[in-house]
Amino acid sequence: MTSIFIKTGKRYKVRIDDGLLAHAGELAAEAIRPCTLVLVADDRVDALYGDTAAESFSRAGFRVLRYTFPNGEASKNMVTLGRLLEFLGEHAVTRSDLIAALGGGVTGDLAGFAAAVYLRGIRYLQIPTTFLAAVDSSVGGKTAVDLAAGKNLAGAFCQPEMVLCDPQVFSTLTPEIFSDGVAEGIKYGMIADADLFQDFSSGEYRTKLEQTVARCVAIKGDVVARDEFDTGDRQLLNFGHTFGHAIELCSHFSVTHGHAVAIGMVIASRAAERRGICSTGCTASLLQALEACGLPVRCEFPADALFAAALADKKRAGDTITLILPQEIGRCIRHPIPVEELRGYLRDGLEAV
Ligand SMILES: NC(=O)c1ccc[n+]([C@@H]2O[C@H](COP(=O)([O-])OP(=O)(O)OC[C@H]3O[C@@H](n4cnc5c(N)ncnc54)[C@H](O)[C@@H]3O)[C@@H](O)[C@H]2O)c1
Ligand SMILES: [Zn+2]
Repeated sequence: MTSIFIKTGKRYKVRIDDGLLAHAGELAAEAIRPCTLVLVADDRVDALYGDTAAESFSRAGFRVLRYTFPNGEASKNMVTLGRLLEFLGEHAVTRSDLIAALGGGVTGDLAGFAAAVYLRGIRYLQIPTTFLAAVDSSVGGKTAVDLAAGKNLAGAFCQPEMVLCDPQVFSTLTPEIFSDGVAEGIKYGMIADADLFQDFSSGEYRTKLEQTVARCVAIKGDVVARDEFDTGDRQLLNFGHTFGHAIELCSHFSVTHGHAVAIGMVIASRAAERRGICSTGCTASLLQALEACGLPVRCEFPADALFAAALADKKRAGDTITLILPQEIGRCIRHPIPVEELRGYLRDGLEAV
């Protein structure tokens, strides 16, 4: 078992181990006195892992209530949030009780937000079941739901009590959903760790998922500890995301988040290389790693469409936009530019894609 400590305002452990799910209750009980625990999962994850998790928490002395909702991003909204909050109220869940988010980023974001606002805040656990949730969304305390006007527009910062990750559950993910998380993993390699990047590039990460998740979580934990509330360094985690979000918008979300981020990283890297910001060969290495992991690298949308989408996405950010650009594999910088210059970066980044 690997344990990583996250040193935000609230300190907590991320525990990663094959087969951990069957012992989740015991591990939680090491730090939390048994109480009522509301296990929140989408229908697909509930069918696969709900019983194992619920039995484990019951055995450890928790009184388990289960809340299930339809899987998919379309559920991450105020309606599902409202239903979940009403469920907590109807079952007289108190401030000394606990929510456990068992699932991908949708479940974690939704259940985390419910925990942040129910009774002005109760404790929650993250139990990530997608690779993306394990390496990214379960750590760092960003919780949210989508509004009609855009993704993640209503939310709160709220750190979990503990994150419990069992890499064995990734075996039931479709290759596409698994690879969404791989794109985020490659992102961590690009911003902070050339060896991690190499593990993705060579495919070796597949033989050491526990270690790979731990490395990604440690990097995210460091960044988040430096900037819990996203006013500076945390922006590094957005490498590939400004362009990625624009691709998601242009595709009406038919291109998944991780796939869009993969293409977004290529655009950022190529634009940086053309401007002499990053070392020659950086983009070629990135392309090789992404392709080796079965991720897309080409963008079907023109610069003008992406620029319009990026502007729509950034309308709340003011006149400057901070791009995250690589200097070399393992090191990225924040690079603020006037919004109108973004079009040029997109043109440079797209050329020859
Ligand atoms: N809070 C953050 O810091 C943060 C960071 C990145 C992404 N996110 C959010 O995360 C969400 C995307 O997360 P996601 O990709 O995990 O989506 P998701 O939670 O919708 O999961 C994707 C699909 O995989 C299924 N699934 C989950 N675990 C499974 C398993 N082990 N076996 C089989 N099927 C399984 C789910 O039922 C769902 O259909 C987005 O809403 C995004 O905004 C949040
Ligand atoms: Zn992302």
